Amino acid sequence: MPSAILTRGVSHRVENFTESVIREMTRLAMEYDAINLAQGFPDFAAPAFIKEAAIQAIRDEVNQYSVTWGDPALRQAIAEKYRRFYRMPIDPDRHVTVCCGATEAMISTLIALLNPGDETVIFEPFYENYGPDSILSGAHPRFVPLRGGPAGWNFDPQELAAAFNERTRAIIINTPNNPTGKVFTRSELEIIRDLCVRWDVLAITDEIYEHILYDGRQHIPLATLDGMAERTITISGVSKTFSVTGWRIGWALAPAALANGIRKVHDFLTVGAPAPLQIGAAHAINHGDDYCRNLSAEYELRRRWLVPPLQAAGFRCQWPEGAYYVLAGIEPFLSSAEETDEAFARRLVREIGVAGVPGSSFYHDPRLGRTQIRFCFPKQDATLNAAVERLRRLGAPAPPEAPAPAPRS
Ligand SMILES: Cc1ncc(COP(=O)(O)O)c(C=O)c1O
Repeated sequence: MPSAILTRGVSHRVENFTESVIREMTRLAMEYDAINLAQGFPDFAAPAFIKEAAIQAIRDEVNQYSVTWGDPALRQAIAEKYRRFYRMPIDPDRHVTVCCGATEAMISTLIALLNPGDETVIFEPFYENYGPDSILSGAHPRFVPLRGGPAGWNFDPQELAAAFNERTRAIIINTPNNPTGKVFTRSELEIIRDLCVRWDVLAITDEIYEHILYDGRQHIPLATLDGMAERTITISGVSKTFSVTGWRIGWALAPAALANGIRKVHDFLTVGAPAPLQIGAAHAINHGDDYCRNLSAEYELRRRWLVPPLQAAGFRCQWPEGAYYVLAGIEPFLSSAEETDEAFARRLVREIGVAGVPGSSFYHDPRLGRTQIRFCFPKQDATLNAAVERLRRLGAPAPPEAPAPAPRS
C-alpha cells in the first residue's frame, strides 16, 4: 500500500506537465534503430579549440564553484563578443548572468521578473519549454500565431497588438526560431518594439541560433533597437553555436536592476554553471569569430541536403531562414482523418526508420499542430543521407518543388 505522501503525488504546478515528446521520440528512435531527426543536437564532433580549452581548465584545477553569476573571464568574453558582433554595450559585472544553458537563463528570467497573474505574449508555434516555463513562473501566456506560407512564417500585426493589455508584462521572442526557422526582420522587430514601449512591457529574446542564418540574412538582437536596451533580456549560449549542448553554458543579458533578480533565482536554482566548461566557453567566444561566421555556410549544406528531398517525398515545407529545423506539413501521408501527428510520427519511426517531433508539441492546443512534423538537420552527411533514403520509401505523390530561395544581397 503506497504511503499517503506518494498518493498525494506531485504539486498542482507540475501535475499538468506532459513528458517531453521530443525525448519520447528519441527513446522510440533507439528502440527501432531509427535515424533521430527529432532532438536538436549535433551528431558530429565539437570544434577542437573549445574542447582543448575545457580540458586544460580541468588540468589547471578549475574544479570548484565559480562566481555564482559566471566566471569573470566568461562574462568578459561575452561582453566583448556582443560589442564586436552587435555593438551592444554590455557591462560584464552588472549585466551578465551565466546560467546552465539558455534553458535555465529563460526560466530564471521568468521567475525573477514575472508575478502570478502577469501575462506573457508568445508566438506560436513555440519552443516547447516556454509552456512549462510560463506555468512555473505563474504567468498566463497569450499566444499569437505565426502562419506558414510561400512567403515564410509571418504574424498579423493586428493580432499581435490585440494580445497586449495592461496585464502584459513580457513578450518572448525566439529568433532565429525553433521550430519554424523564421528570422524576425527589422520591421517586424520594430512592430514588437513599438508595442513593448506603448504598454511598458519587457522583451525576453531567445537568440540561441544567432549564428545560423541562411540566404544572407542578418541576426538583429531586439536589444539594439532604439528604446529596447532598458527593457530587453537577451538570452543565448554556446550549445548550438559550438555544438556542445551537453555543456550547459548559456547566459542572460539584462539591465542591472533586472539582472540582480535573475542572479538571485539562478543562484538558488543551480549555484552556477560548470566551472571548467565556462573557461572553455570563454576561450571559444574569444577565438571563435571566424568559426561563427562560417557556421551558416556549414548548415546551408545540411539545409540543402534535407529540404529538397523532404519536398520531393511529399512533405509541404518552407525553406527555414535560420536555425536548423524544418516544420513540415504531413497532410499527404495521414492514413485517415483520425491519424494524429503523434500517431504519424510513431508510424514514421516504426515503418520508415526516421524520427521527427510531432507538430502538436509546439502548440498550446495540440489540434493546431496536427498536420505537422519537425525534422532537425544538425547531422553528419551520412546521417542525413540515410534519412533521405528512408523517407523516399514513403511514396507520396511528389508536389511541385518550391524553388530554392535567392540569396539576399
Ligand atoms: C529555442 C531554443 N532555446 C533554447 C534551447 C536550449 O538551449 P540550451 O542548451 O542552451 O539550454 C533550445 C534547444 O533546442 C532551443 O531550441
